[in-house]
Amino acid sequence: MEQLKQQIRAHGIVLSEQVLKVDAFLNHKVDPLLMQQIGAELARRFRDQGISKVLTIEASGIAPALMTALALGVPMLFARKQRSLTLTDQLLTARVYSFTKQVESTIAIATQHLAADDRVLIVDDFLAHGQAALGLVSIAQQAGASIAGIGIVIEKAFQPGRAELERLGYRVESLARVASLSGGQVHFVE
Ligand code: G4P
Ligand code: NA
Ligand code: NA
Repeated sequence: MEQLKQQIRAHGIVLSEQVLKVDAFLNHKVDPLLMQQIGAELARRFRDQGISKVLTIEASGIAPALMTALALGVPMLFARKQRSLTLTDQLLTARVYSFTKQVESTIAIATQHLAADDRVLIVDDFLAHGQAALGLVSIAQQAGASIAGIGIVIEKAFQPGRAELERLGYRVESLARVASLSGGQVHFVE
């Protein structure tokens, strides 16, 4: 997606060979028009899939997931990472290990919001090792829901997330694929 690549080139900061900072439009300050375009493009790629819910994790997945859900005309549901005062219902949970942060966390959604007749599109801001997406896959499976695929804003193609998800049979669509962050530069796939 060209507008997204332009924003990454203009405002992305390469923090290391592994980490790209995009706080100027995605992870801290958020560009609403870009999010709308991202949502429209992810919706276009999955429009014929009969999706009934878009599933993500707080915090940074919410903006692109919400815009995708709006474009598809379905609800967005985000897994919580923090215990919530109001999340008192029965929960579906998954353990998610972050290689980047080297911490394990539990993500949760209330059982009542996901059902066996749901067909979900999983959306997230970054795909690295795929652990967040796999946690959402696990939650969807516990609900008996089917999974149409995984839509990602920025994929780090030099990390193993896509291969792992594809090995399990899931369709992965990424709007920007980063081949490497070597030399302080963002190099895209193709
Ligand atoms: P994985 O889910 O694909 O295995 O990714 P990993 O554990 O490595 O990433 C953990 C967190 O770091 C996730 O955010 C993920 O989006 C983010 N992340 C991974 N690589 C990058 C990167 O190169 N740049 C940026 N900006 N983020 C990256 P999170 O902990 O869920 O935080 P939040 O931002 O959603 O609150
Ligand atoms: Na993030
Ligand atoms: Na995320």
